[in-house]
Amino acid sequence: MCGSCGESFLRWEGQCRSCGGWNTLVETIVRDEPRPARRAAGVVAAGGVLPAAESLAAIADADLPRLPVGIGELDRVLGGGLVPGSLVLLGGEPGIGKSTLLLQAAAGLVRASGGTAGVLYATGEESPGQVRLRAARLGLVTGSPGDAVRVLAEHDVGRVIDVARSERPGLVVLDSIQTATVDELEGAAGSVGQVREATLRLMELAKGDGIAIILVGHVTKDGTIAGPKTLEHLVDAVVNLEGERYAALRLLRATKNRFGSTDEVGVFEMADTGLREVDDPARAFLVDHGGDAPGSIVAPTLEGSRPLLVEVQALVSQSGYGTPSRKASGLDPNRLSLLIAVLGKRAGIPLGSQDVYANIAGGLTVLEPALDLALALALASSARDRPVAAGTVAIGEVGLLGELRSVGGLDRRLREAARLGFTRAIVPAAGRRRPVAAVVDGIEVVAVATVRDAIAAALADRPAPRGDALPAMLG
Ligand code: TYD
Ligand code: MG
Repeated sequence: MCGSCGESFLRWEGQCRSCGGWNTLVETIVRDEPRPARRAAGVVAAGGVLPAAESLAAIADADLPRLPVGIGELDRVLGGGLVPGSLVLLGGEPGIGKSTLLLQAAAGLVRASGGTAGVLYATGEESPGQVRLRAARLGLVTGSPGDAVRVLAEHDVGRVIDVARSERPGLVVLDSIQTATVDELEGAAGSVGQVREATLRLMELAKGDGIAIILVGHVTKDGTIAGPKTLEHLVDAVVNLEGERYAALRLLRATKNRFGSTDEVGVFEMADTGLREVDDPARAFLVDHGGDAPGSIVAPTLEGSRPLLVEVQALVSQSGYGTPSRKASGLDPNRLSLLIAVLGKRAGIPLGSQDVYANIAGGLTVLEPALDLALALALASSARDRPVAAGTVAIGEVGLLGELRSVGGLDRRLREAARLGFTRAIVPAAGRRRPVAAVVDGIEVVAVATVRDAIAAALADRPAPRGDALPAMLG
């Protein structure tokens, strides 16, 4: 099987014929799944019994039992708690806090069940001593979690499964899938073959014994969970922990969930006693917002049903030699290129010979197109060296003609911005030619049709104070 694209072959080859990668093929065990014999069309099986189709209303309500882990934000992302028999993949960069979150979840599950559910915490990454040290720091060694969370330092998935079958915990945590190995397979831990086979076996345990399983998966630099895409297809839910390692905020987001919506996000803060839920998530990513430096504007984004206000920052500066540099962090680089082109052609702000850097403050990643307008305004603000008027937010999608397109959930976004003290919002004027302004829910809403109008409405009249003007201002 190819480690980068997941295609399978009958024998080893130096280069994958599907994706062209070199040395990516590894040996994998293939299971024979008995195929039901095909029957000739129109012939009813011997015995003459047809399988029964049911009407939607007649199907018994599969009332999924849930195991709450007692951490509100995590339960929310999971859709109300863990489902027994489900397999969840928790992804995230090394050091982001996956092991911490799962140790807290293990203890929370024990507490929420009143000590009746046990947890098997299998780790191939740390020694039992290290796990205990972390648990002590989190205050989880005493009380019911101290007894009911059982730690097993083991790489071999077969043995983890044997222990789980004999101890029958409510939850098995496997930290991490990249350190797990399957006895019968050659190949290093973390190779596609090992990762895939280990996951398949754990799935059998989950489905067969009704045990919830959470796998930790390290995410590589380019943001994919190591191993083939097939891993994500195998599990019931994929949850990612995001953030900047050196900043405190973490965002938990489901990218797949067979038992709930993928809309919910959870916000945490890394403290010295572990991950803590944040009181006012909508505001969480704004803490450092200074306000009147050129190149910055706040956008009311919507993560599922939760509004989050984020600060978009841009820096435009004359390029030295050669191809100008374009860097986007936390944003879609393709949208950035597109907006640079639109600004040049439709708004009279040529950035072709400028280096452009754009960023979302706080380590958050926002990919919704509704962020376009804020990004365009941040770029314009930096290019013109004029700050955005204080208290302004902007939201809207930008089209190739420089027109603004409306976004979903506008009311909710505006209400949240008003609640957090913003006084003016620049939004798309769907269909209208002229800018219109009105006060809605305590915030002045300026509806504009094009990016050019939006820039005129957003940028403050006065230029930003320059460095050399400072002494004059001081006295
Ligand atoms: P960890 O859970 O080990 O990350 P991962 O399993 O994703 O690799 O946590 C990583 C960082 O979190 C570590 O550098 C130390 C920090 N940390 C805290 O700040 N506070 C705490 O209470 C704990 C346990 C960890
Ligand atoms: Mg870890």
